Amino acid sequence: MCGIVGYVGKQNAVSIILEGLKRLEYRGYDSAGVCVQQGRRLDVAKKAGRVENLAKVAAKHRFTATTGIGHTRWATHGGVTDANAHPHVSSDGKFALIHNGVIENYAQMKTFLAGKGFAFQSETDTEVLCNLIAYHYAKEPARAKGRNRFLESVRKTLRHVEGTYGIAVLCTDFPGEIVGARKASPLILGVGDGEYILASDASALVSRTQNVVYLKDGELAHLTPKGFSLSTLDQADVSPVVDRITWSIADSELGSHAHFMEKEIFEQPAALENAMRGRFSADGSTAQFGGLNISAGEFREMERFMFCACGTAWHACLVTEHLIERFARVPVEVDYASEFRYRNSPLDPRTLFFVMSQSGETIDTLAALREAKRKGYRVMAVNNVVGSSIAREADGGIYQHAGPEVGVASTKAFTSQLLIGAMIALYVARMRDMSFSDGVEYVNALKGAPDLVRQMLKQAPRIKAIAKRYAHYHDMLFLGRLSLFPLALEGALKLKEISYLHAEGYPAAEMKHGPIALISEKCPSVFFAPKGEIFSKIVSSMQEIKARKGPIIAIATAGAELPPGLADDVILMPECHEAVLPIIASIPVQLLSYYIALERGCDVDKPRNLAKSVTVE
Ligand code: F6R
Repeated sequence: MCGIVGYVGKQNAVSIILEGLKRLEYRGYDSAGVCVQQGRRLDVAKKAGRVENLAKVAAKHRFTATTGIGHTRWATHGGVTDANAHPHVSSDGKFALIHNGVIENYAQMKTFLAGKGFAFQSETDTEVLCNLIAYHYAKEPARAKGRNRFLESVRKTLRHVEGTYGIAVLCTDFPGEIVGARKASPLILGVGDGEYILASDASALVSRTQNVVYLKDGELAHLTPKGFSLSTLDQADVSPVVDRITWSIADSELGSHAHFMEKEIFEQPAALENAMRGRFSADGSTAQFGGLNISAGEFREMERFMFCACGTAWHACLVTEHLIERFARVPVEVDYASEFRYRNSPLDPRTLFFVMSQSGETIDTLAALREAKRKGYRVMAVNNVVGSSIAREADGGIYQHAGPEVGVASTKAFTSQLLIGAMIALYVARMRDMSFSDGVEYVNALKGAPDLVRQMLKQAPRIKAIAKRYAHYHDMLFLGRLSLFPLALEGALKLKEISYLHAEGYPAAEMKHGPIALISEKCPSVFFAPKGEIFSKIVSSMQEIKARKGPIIAIATAGAELPPGLADDVILMPECHEAVLPIIASIPVQLLSYYIALERGCDVDKPRNLAKSVTVE
């Protein structure tokens, strides 16, 4: 949530910052702003709305400065107004600050500062933080002797702060310098050729450099035109470790696609291939993972698995639960990360803990990971963003290698999580009772998944035509059973978030216990009807809906014998292995929600009220 960019170098700061903000816009798009430092002057331009609004305002200023900061906001404290847009400037005019996170004790600090004569222009916690820096700067110049007074006043301020932050600060007395810091909100530093860029994530700086330093919690970065240094809140110097980003700017470009969501839906075959590469044993009967940092023997000793995640990633955990229990016969528990962190649930000591997160920055998932570690559990992460907070804090993990996911609605990251979940199930099953030949069959099925997804994607024009017929409804139900019950939840979530159409996901047989009251000709149902042992039960549930005049879209296996006329529309899936089925079934619901949202004129890549990476509680 919220994207931040800071630039120190020789180029026009505003154009680099605006480009970065456009790439970070998926993190929040309520307002945007920049502040540049021209000598000892701070010039601010900010505007409610998208980065393109800001770009128009900034163009009028003709900024030429080579140092600046910029922000794209997802509102937490204070409404969506120009005044609440970042950067915020301290009431003495000396400091400008951008912030991603939440300052929990801001009210108390605001009262304190108001008593000292500080005035506030906005309702934000960020402006309080900015003024607190000004307060410390004015109060304690002597203490900073021999050290940079700007850096020290930020450090001192942050010691008084409760909450989360990724910040970048400018000070009129230190032209060409930026101080950045982070606690629980992501911040990385790009080390370019004679220039340094602070950003919430790599997409904002990868067009200028692939060399990055990932800041750790409690670290500050001090950028000057001559170089940068890192230190901690306790004034200890930190030796920077420069990592290299393995993807390039082309990976996060739209190309010929209309939206990132569309692009990412169509990238799924490649994303699945990347998630599997090098991850099967030489005999082709099981999975292998390089980064778990836990031996096969220790893994074998685990008597239970616990998975925590949020949103779509939580749905991927539910499918994983089904597959592990089905194929490996080991009990699995799945919890929302946001619930687990406060629930204090009793866990068996021989539990292996997993978190799943595309971004690796979701604050609740990170907190669940920390809570599990605090309780002494080993925590593995399934994560897409290399170097993310979750990746760095987990004891081991599996990278998804799905490439950057920019669309706010998760698609390729979801199916790659499903695939990795299926591989974990295989790995555990082969340590227990699954035979060699069943293992080989399972591996071959996973290897075939990308081609089956390609087949499903070919149905896009047909699904688009179906979507047109359903886009005018106000409510929709998604119904599935077993491993496709989580897909029903995912289908409903996808539709809600990008088309603003009310949708619910339910286990098909649960309909009779309440939701069936919703059914009429005005409420269509999407049924997952795969071939298998409970196909006939699903057909019965469909009959119950039909009897009440509910329109039906069936997503059924080719060759399954649906009674003629039962479904109004049918989308066929190829017959496949149980471990692959949820991946294949994801494609029609992604396409259906994408096309319904387009038909309703929604901004699919930037749905209202949402942001891609949820870094506040
Ligand atoms: C929905 C969606 C969200 C995320 C959730 C967790 O399409 O994308 O529900 O799945 O916010 O995000 P990560 O996986 O980054 O932890």
